[in-house]
Amino acid sequence: MTPSPHITRPDRHLALPERERRNGHRGGILWLTGLSASGKSTLAAGLERRLFDARWQVLMLDGDDVRHGLCADLGFSPGDRAENIRRVGEAALLMAKGGTLVVAAFISPYRADRDRIRAQAGGMFHEIHLAADLAVCERRDPKGLYARARAGGIAEFTGISAPYEPPLAPELVVETGHSPVADCLEALVRYAGTAFAIDGGA
Ligand code: ADX
Repeated sequence: MTPSPHITRPDRHLALPERERRNGHRGGILWLTGLSASGKSTLAAGLERRLFDARWQVLMLDGDDVRHGLCADLGFSPGDRAENIRRVGEAALLMAKGGTLVVAAFISPYRADRDRIRAQAGGMFHEIHLAADLAVCERRDPKGLYARARAGGIAEFTGISAPYEPPLAPELVVETGHSPVADCLEALVRYAGTAFAIDGGA
């Protein structure tokens, strides 16, 4: 989308480095992508808690959350998912530029949608693949959605009747199908510390 030629950007008197110095970490987006039941919400919530307790400016954004508000008008067609990820990416980037570390938990099944955020956010976007196999996710099925989708009750369900395109070069892969939640969480906390802390880890 091209903005109107009649709008300008506001002056920013409070620059990002000043916020980052105070927070003790850089602003950015930790983007968790993976199948439904791959552990995105659990790990995003755990990571948010750990970083918050370490006094980080951190906020989790989750698909099931934003689809109740910001994206309540969207379904699961490829076009609607692209718009979902576009809106969330824009919101996350605004927050990241304000110094927050955004932990985003979205299936975000299409590579092109994720790559669009990366292109806009540059080094602020870190893609993390929660790489649990479909078979494992389907066995877990905490919300009963896979069973419903197999029975034909949910159209365009990711992994069953809609595709999931894994990242080709993510910053980190977490094997959430095999490793215990606590180990996966440690890997994420460690990654956040290395990638975003200004001095010292989380
Ligand atoms: S995304 O594909 O646009 O990134 P998002 O992460 O926002 O999806 O939402 C996924 C959540 O919506 C799932 O956790 C699940 O609870 C619910 N859901 C409902 N219908 C579908 C569907 N057809 N495919 C995938 N998830 C669905």
